[in-house]
Amino acid sequence: MALTNCNPKLAIVYASVTGNTEQLAEMLQESVLSQEFRSKLYRVEEFPLSELSSCDVVLIGTYTWGSGEIPEEMQELYQAIEKLDRKQLQTAVFGTGDSFFAEFCGAVDRFRDMLYVKTQLIATLKVELMPQPSDAIRCEKMVKLIKPRTS
Ligand SMILES: Cc1cc2nc3c(=O)[nH]c(=O)nc-3n(C[C@H](O)[C@H](O)[C@H](O)COP(=O)(O)O)c2cc1C
Repeated sequence: MALTNCNPKLAIVYASVTGNTEQLAEMLQESVLSQEFRSKLYRVEEFPLSELSSCDVVLIGTYTWGSGEIPEEMQELYQAIEKLDRKQLQTAVFGTGDSFFAEFCGAVDRFRDMLYVKTQLIATLKVELMPQPSDAIRCEKMVKLIKPRTS
């Protein structure tokens, strides 16, 4: 099927140190591409913040650091979205964490609270450490929540 203007332009932006969140981001990218959306996968360090104004959808992936905190390399993205305050931007936040810690995937919760206010938050997804094949179904469910472009 040919791509049309109804296909939203999408970016998946993630941070990962040991590879768990990267795997989840790749799983999501597979789901997104199977829906024939135009999507690019970026490590956060490589993501041009100017894309936030032209994308229809941004899926944000983060591990959790410290005591439920957003990692340092995700701070700039967080602040840019907060400042942009673009309600028509569809967003979702996903991440991996370790339930050994008091705030499981706390960084996902912190992003969620901001995205809910500043953007059109469509979903959140938390995975315990390394993604399992069954998480592919959860990724598909998240991707199905993305709305087509209206213009
Ligand atoms: C110092 C340190 C602090 C962490 N703090 C938390 C935390 O508060 N909550 C949580 O859910 N996971 C926490 N984690 C676990 C990581 O978020 C988890 O291992 C994650 O899957 C790593 O993602 P990555 O493989 O993409 O780097 C912590 C890990 C380390 C090393």
